[in-house]
Amino acid sequence: MLISLTDIRKTYDMGPVQVTALAGVTLGIEEGDYVAIMGPSGSGKSTLMNVIGCLDTPSAGSYKLKQREIAQMDDDALAEIRNGEIGFIFQTFNLLPRTDAVENVELPLVYSGISRAERRRRAEKALQIVGLGERMHHKPNEMSGGQRQRVAIARALVNEPSIVLADEPTGNLDSKTGEEIMNLIDDLHAKGNTIILVTHEEELAERASRVLRLRDGVVVSDERNAGSTFTPPGGAGKERSSSPEIQPGA
Ligand SMILES: Nc1ncnc2c1ncn2[C@@H]1O[C@H](COP(=O)(O)OP(=O)(O)O)[C@@H](O)[C@H]1O
Ligand SMILES: [Mg+2]
Repeated sequence: MLISLTDIRKTYDMGPVQVTALAGVTLGIEEGDYVAIMGPSGSGKSTLMNVIGCLDTPSAGSYKLKQREIAQMDDDALAEIRNGEIGFIFQTFNLLPRTDAVENVELPLVYSGISRAERRRRAEKALQIVGLGERMHHKPNEMSGGQRQRVAIARALVNEPSIVLADEPTGNLDSKTGEEIMNLIDDLHAKGNTIILVTHEEELAERASRVLRLRDGVVVSDERNAGSTFTPPGGAGKERSSSPEIQPGA
């Protein structure tokens, strides 16, 4: 099991009141799975993503990533796990504004001890994979929303993460551009990456292999989509790719 969450709870202290964002989440995610997380606003989707992505620690419970207990790690240890294992794609792209595409993509590698030349080589390769080989030196304000999200996807891939987390990745895009971005995410899955996608659109969730529904900080349903192509690691059946050059996560 790649991810193993057991009775994960998260409460926020808001002065005299406590807000419960996660009220006991237990779930496992296998390597290579494609999971959509749905649920109404405030149901805990982003909090769950932040815990899985090691951006935040739970108040209680156990989180094992590749059999390592993460729940009580300090910030430095979490940052190290994050850099090595997680790729993030956000609704708002979260690119550095005055930094060109290739430098944005290199960022996750800066603290990894990889040489400058190798960082550049990997970033250029990731940008080629997302179809931005001709836009290496454009800054975010010189690109369309779809191109910015492609840069963010290249940045998410550059450290060959075990998990790609996408929180409403098409929320700020028109439907045609959103479709292109979803096709790219589907391709990543087809190449063996583990994908966790937060969305409120049923149509997007249908593309995943499995749909988790949250309500009030708990999982209220967990179902495999009909026709899911997911097969456990080592199995066959991942044949939906149209971009054979995308490499699976480490
Ligand atoms: N940093 C925070 N401080 C206080 N309360 C928070 C914080 N983040 C989230 N919450 C609360 O936790 C609950 C779940 O939020 P969130 O995970 O953002 O839900 P979703 O992404 O499903 O909309 C909400 O009630 C929200 O107000
Ligand atoms: Mg949210």
